[in-house]
Amino acid sequence: MQASDIKKVLIIGSGTMGRHIGLQNALFGCDVVLYDINEEILQKAVTHIGKIAAGLVRGGYITEEMAEAAKARITTTTDMAAAAADADLVNESIPESIELKKKVWGEFSKYFKKDAILTTNTSTLLPSLFAEASGNPSRFLAWHFAMPVFILNIVDVMPHAGTDPAVTEIMIEHSRRVGQTPIYIAREWPRYVYNEMFTSLLAAAQRLAVNGVASVEDIDRAWMVIMEMPRGPFGIMDNVGLDTCLAVTKEAVAADPNYPYGKEIIAMLQAKVDAGELGRKTGKGFYTYPNPAYSQPGFVERVVPKYKN
Ligand SMILES: NC(=O)c1ccc[n+]([C@@H]2O[C@H](COP(=O)([O-])OP(=O)(O)OC[C@H]3O[C@@H](n4cnc5c(N)ncnc54)[C@H](O)[C@@H]3O)[C@@H](O)[C@H]2O)c1
Repeated sequence: MQASDIKKVLIIGSGTMGRHIGLQNALFGCDVVLYDINEEILQKAVTHIGKIAAGLVRGGYITEEMAEAAKARITTTTDMAAAAADADLVNESIPESIELKKKVWGEFSKYFKKDAILTTNTSTLLPSLFAEASGNPSRFLAWHFAMPVFILNIVDVMPHAGTDPAVTEIMIEHSRRVGQTPIYIAREWPRYVYNEMFTSLLAAAQRLAVNGVASVEDIDRAWMVIMEMPRGPFGIMDNVGLDTCLAVTKEAVAADPNYPYGKEIIAMLQAKVDAGELGRKTGKGFYTYPNPAYSQPGFVERVVPKYKN
């Protein structure tokens, strides 16, 4: 099998990620079937996919014709056997629960073609956890996207120890086929590459704040100027959502009793969440929206050339 043999892609779970991943594969010529637990969810997914595609047209990334062609390639079903029939590639994007993912892979396993490539979009779990349940461990690996998929086109390709290297190669090539930049992860690692760096950055910024080392604004300022970024770690947390940041931190602290200043960081985020200050989505977090202080003139003073010959 080669990447060009991937013609039909099954997406299990038509939520936030499944919609984007389905559209992405359809935009680049694959037939896509979305599977979910009921028709209502699938209809919402189809409507939302139309909106994502319209946004890409408005942004000038794709033409109206490309959007229409992609939408025409997407079908939906709640029937497992029909969903899996002829699928060359499967991506599972259901909620981040070991038990649920094991159950769903187990239920689907009897319907897959023998040479289908099976992938999970898990954010934090390892493909080896589900490889056996999938029924075909050597063709199982993680294929993990960033949101929004079309624009932030980095995708992690992470095999487990039992993945056939030829399958990993096919997925690296297929990633390129569908407009993504593959990041090959040479060994299983729970936060892949970007998330490993990203979570470290946020944790460092949080440590500085809860210890009163510097203000939220100065922490962001330092990062923004030196890294030439439009926002700093606290601005980023506001975008992610402070409820999500709290949940992620609670999990990390539960997994590592020595997590530095875990209790204090949780208390800081909990206070924000209790106050309904969840970040950009509620209009207030560490900053106030829609015009946060960090995007106002004067928040950072970037040096620009003044005396040119
Ligand atoms: N949201 C992100 O930014 C992001 C980024 C990368 C990876 N991920 C990972 O992607 C996966 C999905 O995340 P999401 O944000 O799309 O979640 P979501 O809650 O938006 O969507 C999950 C979908 O799975 C469906 N589902 C639930 N049980 C199911 C079942 N038994 N069979 C089939 N479908 C079922 C739900 O109805 C829903 O449509 C998770 O593993 C998450 O960690 C998320």
